[in-house]
Amino acid sequence: MIEGSPSRTAFMTALQRGYHNACAAEPKILNDNLALDLAGVSSAEAKVFIDNLIKTFEGLSDFETANIFMHRIDCAVCMRSRVVEEKLLLAQKRNIKQLVILGAGLDSTAYRRLDLTKGLQVFEVDHPSTQIWKRQKLEQANIKIPENLKFVAFDFEKQTLSEAFNAGNIRTDRITFFSWLGVQMYLTDQAVRATLKVLGRYPLGSELIMDFISPSYVLEGGISEKSVDYLQKVVTDMGEPVKSKYYEHDLENILQESGFSNVDFLSAKWLVHNYLDGDKTFFDMPDRATSILSATI
Ligand SMILES: C[S@@+](CC[C@H](N)C(=O)[O-])C[C@H]1O[C@@H](n2cnc3c(N)ncnc32)[C@H](O)[C@@H]1O
Repeated sequence: MIEGSPSRTAFMTALQRGYHNACAAEPKILNDNLALDLAGVSSAEAKVFIDNLIKTFEGLSDFETANIFMHRIDCAVCMRSRVVEEKLLLAQKRNIKQLVILGAGLDSTAYRRLDLTKGLQVFEVDHPSTQIWKRQKLEQANIKIPENLKFVAFDFEKQTLSEAFNAGNIRTDRITFFSWLGVQMYLTDQAVRATLKVLGRYPLGSELIMDFISPSYVLEGGISEKSVDYLQKVVTDMGEPVKSKYYEHDLENILQESGFSNVDFLSAKWLVHNYLDGDKTFFDMPDRATSILSATI
């Protein structure tokens, strides 16, 4: 991240969720009707931003690849938030007490899904620069901060998560649901492992939903192995370079060594079947391109 500035990729993902909510065909993956308000842009402005991203990808590849690639990133960004909503609903039966959103950016779950967060203590943990900016955005958009939400400022690269949890009164003895979306790739391997070690010590019934980036590989469906490099170039230009990448089996090992007993990689097929009634209208992508997992203790 650029020192002293909020995360630009957090702005980008909010635009993706907001534009999807405003313009995608039904069945939508996600209904984030606060994303554009939070970002402070109209759907037309979001479209310009996304079109410019497609142009950048096109400059690195070609028209068709750029459009397919952008579509897949949009799908994955919306789907990872949808997975959190669906899994949070299921986790209520396990008597979870806390929802901790790590690297929250402009995530709107706490303001929008009061049905899912009722009775939970919710924490948004994020880099101080992004968090200050988000709080301004919430105020500008007149979005009320729920009483059960607490902000905890934290830099994954400079502090230990345990220090932040102590400072923010995040209990380590409670069954907890962790959402860690769109953050792993911006952290060093050391910070990722240190984070998972802390999360893996939570009580039985706790769960983590995260997404991750893999080293370049060939995906079926016409996207070359360079697609990871394209994304890398774009986020680096935003001041947020990719610092770590994992193959599934390596990440699974790290999660298990950290204390997670079950790691479930959610394939596109499974997501379409379970969340979209098998309708691929918007979410038509290769299984491995989703890179979303659920890890439970
Ligand atoms: C791509 S955004 C994802 C935001 C949100 N989770 C979402 O899904 O839209 C990346 C997030 O990681 C956070 N982040 C990146 N590096 C960080 C660090 N070293 N410490 C704390 N947060 C960091 C940024 O502040 C930002 O909120």
